Amino acid sequence: MGRVGAIILAAGKSTRMKSRFPKVIHQVGGRAMLDHVLRAASEALGTEDGAASEAGDTEDHSPRFVVIVGHEREKVRAALATSPLVESATFIEQEPQLGTGDAVRHARAAWMDADAQPDTILVLYGDTPLVRAETLRALLVKHQRTGATLTFLTGIATDPTGYGRVLRDARGRVAGIVEQKHATPEELRIAEVNSGIYCFQRAWLWPHLERLELHPNGEYYLTDLVDVAVREGQPVSTATASLEETMGVNDRVQLADAERILRERIVRDVMHSGVTVQDPATTYIEAGVRIGQDTVVRPGTHLRGATVIGERCEIGPNSVIADSVIGDECLVLSSWLDHAEMESGARVGPMSRLRAGARLKRGAYVGNFGEVKNSTIGENVDMHHFSYIGDTNIGSGTNVGAGVITMNYDGKQKHHTEIGEHVFLGCDTLLRAPVTIGDGASTGGGAVVTRDVPPGKLAVGMPARTVRKVKSAHSPDSGKRDENELDENERDENETKTAQKHAEFGQTD
Ligand code: UD1
Ligand code: MG
Repeated sequence: MGRVGAIILAAGKSTRMKSRFPKVIHQVGGRAMLDHVLRAASEALGTEDGAASEAGDTEDHSPRFVVIVGHEREKVRAALATSPLVESATFIEQEPQLGTGDAVRHARAAWMDADAQPDTILVLYGDTPLVRAETLRALLVKHQRTGATLTFLTGIATDPTGYGRVLRDARGRVAGIVEQKHATPEELRIAEVNSGIYCFQRAWLWPHLERLELHPNGEYYLTDLVDVAVREGQPVSTATASLEETMGVNDRVQLADAERILRERIVRDVMHSGVTVQDPATTYIEAGVRIGQDTVVRPGTHLRGATVIGERCEIGPNSVIADSVIGDECLVLSSWLDHAEMESGARVGPMSRLRAGARLKRGAYVGNFGEVKNSTIGENVDMHHFSYIGDTNIGSGTNVGAGVITMNYDGKQKHHTEIGEHVFLGCDTLLRAPVTIGDGASTGGGAVVTRDVPPGKLAVGMPARTVRKVKSAHSPDSGKRDENELDENERDENETKTAQKHAEFGQTD
């Protein structure tokens, strides 16, 4: 087979989609359809087509993936920006778009160097997102084994509406492909359809593309090449795959069908890998997600993007997790996570939100109605109820009382809050950033902390004042007055007393 190059067609106008966006960038399973096709082709071709070694080169400069773009080409490129394969693709413009035959003809420009020509060309359509790499590999193998000039993939449809029908002679040999709009009533009843995935011998393909005839609707059909090859007596072969894999997406109904099929496929793969999915019908897992063994995914859960989840976790019900990394034995109960990280044994929810840069260290617990953004919540921190923590670092073993808020934004800039280890923040403490709470310090209920609190000290009131050392079972001089601090506070004794009363309510579990 020698060197293989792939051409993916993505220039069409998407008329039936009725969209302002090109059809091939509409997503299924969280990825652009074109991205799925590109990944399947890349996986199928691998690095082992022998091209470089046969040529005796260490580097092969022949383009491997050529994407034909036209209608809204910038949007197509932008949609692939996050795909790992965008760098290995060569984009060629087709303007105007005169059909699938014309689109493939444009790809030739990518291989003008006579020494860098592929021997076999795989053609795929960008609106066929469900095709698997192993099916493409099987097609390539069949093409090679039969020595055919052209091998294409067919599907058997219960409803073949819209597809090109595969015509066969009395002996079952391929006779051609007839498009739906040109088919006779008898031909319309044929269940075997063209998937739009073909292997060609390159040396035959290029000259024959030039000879395609224009149809009255202003298009050159790639499918006409099957007819041409048969008439020339060239060997033509086919491989067949389920239509669930080769379906083309031309409108929103087919888009939803593809979404459902891919979702079911991914959830099945996830279950086969050792994950319990309690209700597959209400579980949405995107293609790039990884989940460890014995994790349980409960109903109503959406796992998106590059999310990685460890082993023995409990996720859901009703959790939405995007691009996040979760360790082993974590609990995510009815919560939203986006670009967040949870180390092993961390728990969140119900009804909490971990935003970008939120990091829960081992054993940390963010309970109900909490929000964390760009902050590290230290090991075994307890933050059970109603808090907002932003641009903050919390040390291990700290207790965050109900309703603690970091005021990280002054209207112009974000500021950092540093909270030490084993701190006890009373309920409703407001921390005006930038501010630092030292290790082992405490705040009273309702304290408005505008100045740093030294390690081991209790600060109370509004604004909070440091009143004494923290009473602690581990501190030998617990409860002793700190003369330096008191000098300041005695200037307003009444206010301090009121604040201390508040401190009585500053405890939480
Ligand atoms: C095509 C096939 C049909 C097959 C079906 C499988 C032809 C003539 N028909 O029909 O036999 O059963 O796919 O899904 O090939 N494109 C371009 N440039 C163009 C026109 C189209 O790049 O000028 C691209 C589109 O973006 C799309 C792909 O080619 O990704 C296929 O075009 P589409 O219009 O969807 O063809 P179908 O009518 O589905
Ligand atoms: Mg189509």
